[in-house]
Amino acid sequence: MEIKEFPRSDRAFLLQAQDLLRECFPQAYSGDLAAQQIALCLEEDRLAFMAEEEGNLLGFVGAMPQYGVTAWELHPLAVTEARRGEGSGAAVGARLERECAARGCLTLYLGTDDEFFQTSLSQGDLFEDTFRKIQDIRNLGRHPYEFYQKQGFQIVGVLPDANGPGKPDIWMAKRVSR
Ligand SMILES: CC(C)(COP(=O)(O)OP(=O)(O)OC[C@H]1O[C@@H](n2cnc3c(N)ncnc32)[C@H](O)[C@@H]1OP(=O)(O)O)[C@@H](O)C(=O)NCCC(=O)NCCS
Repeated sequence: MEIKEFPRSDRAFLLQAQDLLRECFPQAYSGDLAAQQIALCLEEDRLAFMAEEEGNLLGFVGAMPQYGVTAWELHPLAVTEARRGEGSGAAVGARLERECAARGCLTLYLGTDDEFFQTSLSQGDLFEDTFRKIQDIRNLGRHPYEFYQKQGFQIVGVLPDANGPGKPDIWMAKRVSR
């Protein structure tokens, strides 16, 4: 497995990246929406990296500059289901962190939705005792927030009901400056 900058004009990888989004986020990127999202991810000012093995795309990560260049938003991160748990997600993420830092990024951040009641933050009214609930978060169904914690991100906030009642977005951030 190799980590590389995503080859923006390689049609075979473009199609695989679209399929990967459809596979990993069927609720958000069905049909043409996946192609549109990949096109956005590959705009000139953005960064995109991939985990690849013998022409097969295993993982994809992108990020866009915000607040000038001091904070970048990571979006999306996806690893094909058959190859999860082999370090691809951590590896593309680490490469992205280095490249963002080299471009003036101090803080890398992301929103990770809890649309399927995978964390304790989906239980009850998240406008009540918000910070205690963040402190006491439990992973009920392998929600990726724990993956990001292992990469050094911390939860810095939530957007209650962002995706509907009991379906918050969880905001996470990491200092990446050297
Ligand atoms: C989240 C995702 C990118 C992780 O990729 P991956 O290649 O399987 O992750 P890695 O193998 O690099 O795992 C690194 C560590 O995180 C842990 N981890 C990975 N996914 C996890 C999860 N969902 N919950 C808890 N821990 C997780 C691994 O066990 C490993 O732990 P270790 O360092 O103690 O061994 C992948 O599961 C995925 O694409 N999921 C679907 C899309 C998604 O949810 N993307 C994030 C949206 S914000």
